[in-house]
Amino acid sequence: MRDQWNSRIGFILASIGSAVGLGNIWRFPTVTAENGGGAFLFVYLIVVLIIGVPVMIIELTLGRKSQTNVVSTFDTLTNHPFWSKIGFIGLISALVVLSFYAVIAGWVILYFFFALVGRLSLTSANDLLVFFDTMIAHPYLSTLGLIIFLTFTLLIVMTGVSKGIERFSKFSMPSVIILLIILFARTITLEGSFEGLIWFLSPRLEDVTLSVALNAIGQVFFSFSLGMGILLTYGSYLAKDTNIPSNSLIISISDVLVAILAGAIVIPALFAFNLELETGPGLIFVTIPAVFNTLPLGSLWTSVFFLLLAFAALTSSVSFLEVLTAYTVDKFKQPRKNATILATFSVFILGLPSALAAGPLDFFTVRGMNFLDLVDTFSSTVLLPLSGLLIVLFTGWVWGNKTAIKEIQQGAPAFNEENLIASLWSILVKYLIPLAILYIFITGFLAG
Ligand code: TRP
Repeated sequence: MRDQWNSRIGFILASIGSAVGLGNIWRFPTVTAENGGGAFLFVYLIVVLIIGVPVMIIELTLGRKSQTNVVSTFDTLTNHPFWSKIGFIGLISALVVLSFYAVIAGWVILYFFFALVGRLSLTSANDLLVFFDTMIAHPYLSTLGLIIFLTFTLLIVMTGVSKGIERFSKFSMPSVIILLIILFARTITLEGSFEGLIWFLSPRLEDVTLSVALNAIGQVFFSFSLGMGILLTYGSYLAKDTNIPSNSLIISISDVLVAILAGAIVIPALFAFNLELETGPGLIFVTIPAVFNTLPLGSLWTSVFFLLLAFAALTSSVSFLEVLTAYTVDKFKQPRKNATILATFSVFILGLPSALAAGPLDFFTVRGMNFLDLVDTFSSTVLLPLSGLLIVLFTGWVWGNKTAIKEIQQGAPAFNEENLIASLWSILVKYLIPLAILYIFITGFLAG
């Protein structure tokens, strides 16, 4: 008998912990700023509804049905030589995502220290930007951050304190949100910020392009932890009477709310401090300290914020190691410990070029993107949508939509063939989602 979640709340918290992280607070505002503000937000919300929530339901359902890890799930449900292998794409995507994610999380940890010793109490946003650029260009600092972050991830998973982390996230998650609300209140009273809020919230449909849509799809997959087998693995620990659709809604809504809150701080701050929309990955590392520095004890606030953000990143990285460990333990009957060490080491090697991307490797660029930006863009606009597309096609056409609906119904009796949701569901899963991803994928990609 496979392990099961002890409680409904344990599952919800772990899933929200995996979803909410740098994707919401660091990536969402950055991608929004680069893709037209409200135009992006508008498309993002549509993608959440028609792709994000359904794919989340599918992943949890596949996991609960197969009761096994990402790779074996497809093996158990079909003998087809191609479809039985698609789980590998998820596993590889997660590995690639974690490799650069850990670099950013490393910067977050470094910022905690820099704020603590008062190095971030600079008053001008431009000085903060110079500080950030200098830090990431330093040949060893980013690597140090990467090592610290991965060491923490490894220790948590190895000593089995993920239970402890769960308890901790009950406290850290709400604290991040409280800090975000304080930041929002402060930001919105800064001169010039209101204009930014309007830019963030008004859906200017004329600015929606296919590349905006592709970025929105990528961001939803990234932020919801989809296409990486994470929720699929979490689903495999679910009891049959769990209501998957309603749980998926709770997880999605929480994730979206945190992202919107972060956007409503960072984008108005961008306007208030006259920063460029294309500031890039440094955006939160400039705006957050700049806003806090307008308050008394600014450095202290900043250091607490980055510490909590590091914890939010840890609950995400831990979720990935769980996927990999579940796979290695099921498949090779290896002890957890070896699996975890090997996985962390691979992530480190893969992450190294990202850590050095703005420093010694800065001569390497493709379309103006350095190695880190490239891996980030590649995983969210190619790997994740591709993996998502295959999972949806598999469910609609190979495993069969009828079987899927039957499985979802367990624990969610309202989800049946007579009602509208289930009939809409078939159209979504068999036609709309695959065609939408495919179309936006190909055309958005060609348009660059
Ligand atoms: N969902 C996470 C976030 O928004 C990012 C994430 C998804 C992730 N999959 C991951 C992080 C795998 C590490 C490993 O922050």
